[in-house]
Amino acid sequence: MQKSLEVVLSPLLLPLVDLTGKTVVVIDILRATSTICAALNNGAKSLKPVVSTEEALSYNKNEYCIAGERNGEKAPGFDFGNSPREYSRELIGGKKIVLTTTNGTKCIHASLDADEVLIGSFFNLDAIITYLRNSSNDAVLFCSGWKDRVNLEDTLFAGYVAEGLRETHHWDSDEVEISLNLYNKASIDPISFLRNASHAKRFERLGNTQDLEVCLEFNAHPIVVKYADGELVGI
Ligand code: MLT
Repeated sequence: MQKSLEVVLSPLLLPLVDLTGKTVVVIDILRATSTICAALNNGAKSLKPVVSTEEALSYNKNEYCIAGERNGEKAPGFDFGNSPREYSRELIGGKKIVLTTTNGTKCIHASLDADEVLIGSFFNLDAIITYLRNSSNDAVLFCSGWKDRVNLEDTLFAGYVAEGLRETHHWDSDEVEISLNLYNKASIDPISFLRNASHAKRFERLGNTQDLEVCLEFNAHPIVVKYADGELVGI
């Protein structure tokens, strides 16, 4: 039986969707969900997403790698920021991580009424598509955006996933069609397409010359990441 597919383009639109019994995939390509997939695939024991910098800094640095990003930069007082490049196996293998970001970690906490919450990025694109194809749950692709604004990269990723679900899911949704149209326009060269994204321009202003390309490395970290008991773990 075909399952339903929905796309939420901004956190402000999440209240319009009933999450009961559904699988939510939280998407924050630049960069929270990319960082989460990289860290867990590189051997981190777990990753605890928290909403505030105060909460993150309250954890014991002897027990956790404490990571925080605000406005695209490492937040003051934090040892780790929110670039996947920081989370090498050598640095975080076997360790527990606490992470707070501007958008992505808030969206994870906003999704907890769902039956299950997964993490989606281009790093684990095929693994997420396969998981949703095999699941009996309806699916919701939740784009974190930027400070409640819609963004290109998260919407584009939703289009890639929707394209992979054509045989197993149905939809009556302009949001899904919007994401698929982005996919049709951008999939020939997604990096060039995303150079016009607001986040790409933010990276330029911040002198971040690598993370756009890094976060577009398809299937570089093929792990399914799920929220369980307050932490994100690979399954
Ligand atoms: C976010 O969570 O808002 C993003 O990951 C921000 C960033 O790290 O650039």
